[in-house]
Parts: sequence; C-alpha cells; structure tokens
Amino acid sequence: MAPRGARAAFPAAAAALVLLLLPPAGAGLSGYFGTKSRYEEVNPHLARDPLSLGPGAAAPPPAACAPLQLRALLRHGTRYPTAGQVRRLARLHARLPRPAACPAAAALAAWPMWYEESLDGRLAPQGRRDMEHLARRLAARFPALFAARRPLALASSSKHRCLQSGEAFRRGLGPALGLGGDEVEVEVNDSLMRFFDHCAKFVALVEENEAAMCQVNAFKEGPEMRKVLEKVASALCLPVEELNADLVQVAFLTCSYELAIKNVTSPWCSLFTEEDAQVLEYLNDLKQYWKRGYGYDINSRSSCILFQDIFQHLDKAVEESKSSKPISSPLIVQVGHAETLQPLLALMGFFKDEEPLKANNYVRQMHRKFRSGRIVPYAANLVFVLYHCDQVKTSDEEYQVQMLLNEKLLSFHHSNETISTYANLKNYYKDILENCHFKEECELPKVNTTAVDEL
Ligand SMILES: *[C@@H]1O[C@H](CO)[C@@H](O)[C@H](O)[C@H]1NC(C)=O
Ligand SMILES: *[C@@H]1O[C@H](CO)[C@@H](O)[C@H](O)[C@H]1NC(C)=O
Ligand SMILES: *[C@@H]1O[C@H](CO)[C@@H](O)[C@H](O)[C@H]1NC(C)=O
Ligand SMILES: *[C@@H]1O[C@H](CO)[C@@H](O)[C@H](O)[C@H]1NC(C)=O
Repeated sequence: MAPRGARAAFPAAAAALVLLLLPPAGAGLSGYFGTKSRYEEVNPHLARDPLSLGPGAAAPPPAACAPLQLRALLRHGTRYPTAGQVRRLARLHARLPRPAACPAAAALAAWPMWYEESLDGRLAPQGRRDMEHLARRLAARFPALFAARRPLALASSSKHRCLQSGEAFRRGLGPALGLGGDEVEVEVNDSLMRFFDHCAKFVALVEENEAAMCQVNAFKEGPEMRKVLEKVASALCLPVEELNADLVQVAFLTCSYELAIKNVTSPWCSLFTEEDAQVLEYLNDLKQYWKRGYGYDINSRSSCILFQDIFQHLDKAVEESKSSKPISSPLIVQVGHAETLQPLLALMGFFKDEEPLKANNYVRQMHRKFRSGRIVPYAANLVFVLYHCDQVKTSDEEYQVQMLLNEKLLSFHHSNETISTYANLKNYYKDILENCHFKEECELPKVNTTAVDEL
C-alpha cells in the first residue's frame, strides 16, 4: 500500500509509468526485419539477460549421453550497412523536401545522416557483444566440450565482419577455455564459408543473372509494394514517381539498422505500419528464397562442400571414439554469412513451404515457414552436436546427433524428433552424401546460356 500522502502524486507518476511502458512508435516492426533482425527477436529472453540460456535450458541433455563433438556455424553479428545501402540512403535523405507543412519529411530531413560508406558492412560494437555473449552461452550449455585446453578450430570467411566476429567469439570463450587472448588463430576458409562465390554455375545463373530474380522484381512492381510506395510518398509529400521499391526498402532498412546498432527507434520507422512491414519483409524473403533458398536447386547444392565437410568430421569423431582415441576436433566453430547458412538449411530440407514464394502469392504465404528473420538474424547459429551414449539397446544408438538453430533444438524430418541416431541421419541424407559434390554441381552447363529455365 502506498502511504496516504503519496496519493496526490499518483496520477502523474502513473501517467509517466504508462508512457514508459508504451512501446515506442515503430517498435512493432522489429519482427519483420528479415536478415536485418536482431538475434533477440528469436530469443526475447536475451533482451533481459544476454547470458541466460532461456527456456531451452530446461531441456535436459540426452540421458547417459556425453557430447563428443560440436560444430557451430555462425552468421556474423550485427553489422553496419553496406556502402551501397549508405549511398542509397544518402540519396533518399538528400531528396527529402523540408517544408514545415510536411512534418514527417521535415523530421527526417533534420535526422543526422551519420552512416558513411567506409562503414561498408563492418561489424558494429553490438555485433561484438552478440558474439561474445553467444560464446559464453554455448560454453555454459556444453561445459564438457568447452573445457580448458580442449582444442578449438576456429575458421571464418575472409570478410572483415566475420573475422572480427570470430575474434569476439574467441574472446567470449576466453574464460571458459582458459585462454588469455590470441592462442587460437582464426583461419580464413572461403571455400567453406563463401562457397557461393566459388560456384561458377551459381554465379552465372543466379548471382549475375538478372532474370533469376524475376519474382523479386515483379513483387517490387506489384500491388502490395505500390500501396506502400504511395503511403510513404504521401507521408513525405513527394510525388510517388520520385520513389521506388529500393528507396522505400532502404528507409525501412534504416529503421532496422538504428534499432540493431544503436538500440533506438529512429524516425524512419514512423513511415511504416505493421502491414507495410509485412510487405517489406516478404520482399526480403523473396530475395533470400530465390537467391539462397529453394528458388533454384543450385542455391542449396552449392553448399554440398560444407555439408560433406560436416559429415566427414562427424565420421572421424565416431571412428576416433570407436577406437578409444581422443577426439581430434571436439570443437569446430566457423563464421560465415546468412548466405552460408540458408543454402545449407535448404539442402537439408528445413523451412520448406508447400508452394514456392512468388510475387503473386503474398497473401497465401502469410504463414510461411521461410521467414529469414526467424532463420538467419544477426549472429544466427546452426549447431551440430554428436553424442556418445551408454546403456543403449542397439549399437546404432551409441552415436546420436542433435541440431540446434539459434540455440533451439530442431526436429529432424525423418522422425519429428529432436535427436537422431547418427546412422539414421546419414541414411536420411544418403543421396546428398553420395551424390552431391561441389565440383560437379557447380560446373557450368556446356551450352552457353543464362536462361532461367536452365536452372
Ligand atoms: C578449408 O576447409 C577444407 C575442408 O576442411 C579444407 O580441405 C581446405 O584445405 C581448407 N582451406 C584452407 C585455405 O584452409
Ligand atoms: C535498449 O533500449 C531499451 C529501451 O530503451 C532498454 O530497456 C534496453 O536495456 C536497451 N538494451 C541495451 C542492450 O542497451
Ligand atoms: C511429422 O509431423 C508432421 C506434422 O505433425 C506430419 O505431417 C509428418 O508426417 C510427421 N513426419 C514423420 C516422419 O513422422
Ligand atoms: C556466352 O555468350 C555471350 C554472348 O552471346 C558471350 O559474351 C560470352 O562470352 C559467352 N560465354 C562463354 C563461356 O562462351
């Protein structure tokens, strides 16, 4: 009970409290930022305590099983916009009219444009924290593996943001592994982490082929985007012809960057309603789908090199365990991109919708599985854990595997369970293991064509 004397002050205090509790304008948009989503979107408990293991911590490790090997594939942490995005934002910002009669435009024109091209996709300070915290949570979840003096193999894409993420991850592990600082080298391996750059067929037929993005381009011109464009143009008192989907998208991206990098709700967010955000999220997902996901087979097939590498290391750990040798690679941590994880998840069949994502099925895809923001936010991580289990009925059950995406157990497609014998897993992916090889998959077809129907 509040003392009597406090009564008079109560209404004002309550009003202030209500203001504090109200979400800031634009806060409802953060679930729609696609690949620019904060990691906290998929694990909200981390906003309160970045070291908490959350609800997943309640799931016990499999009984009588000890982890032998952990392979973590990470996306780099929160990053700055790329040079291209900064240029586009500067162009939009310079074009804003400043009349007092147009408050939204005036507010944005007054917004200090602080992004520079030189930031070019680099890791933001928040991105370092993403990685340090992730390392500490993984170490807390698997104390037997992240124990002092266990060898750690740390690899990264050659991109600055990934190398820096790898270093931040190692720093986060320092206390767990008894490392002071630089004992573990971050080894660059683009053939594993940027396989897409080295896959000639992917580069020619998807990456550099404008026609491959026809669904994305059609959606940019479609009725849903048109509506968003008209609303934004009207809010900014600009003729709609002065805007296009790319400029509107960069305004939305800025809203996402300001939240992820600076933890602020920027005035750019006020241009959009939740409904607009859903349309822009779909645009982002369409691009991921056709460029990195199920859109074309080569997108996922180009990740075979990584897939094979994962199973080779699992095989080796099983062999070593069977012959009672120490496991040579108990911990493998590799830092790449959303573009590294998405194709691999597609190769393994995760988040596949019955129908493809297309320009004209926006409404039917409202409840799609393929939502990049849920799959590959900043600091996304896909973890394979190999266990050795005692007290088992059959010898197959001795080696078991779990997969975690963003620290949550994934259900295997062949069983709907969150743990599988290694034998069953290999059997389920037999065709890929036997028949998917980077070199053959990525060879350009002999005919000289860049037609989409070749894909
Ligand atoms: C990258 O990893 C692959 C597979 O483990 C290995 O064969 C290759 O030698 C590595 N490349 C570099 C540059 O370390
Ligand atoms: C981000 O901002 C919110 C609201 O202003 C605050 O509660 C939260 O602690 C901030 N998070 C970080 C990591 O600074
Ligand atoms: C997994 O569960 C889904 C939905 O409950 C079901 O449709 C599917 O047949 C199940 N798959 C297996 C292999 O049990
Ligand atoms: C394919 O054809 C295009 C134009 O017809 C030509 O510019 C290109 O060099 C050719 N590529 C190869 C690999 O022959």
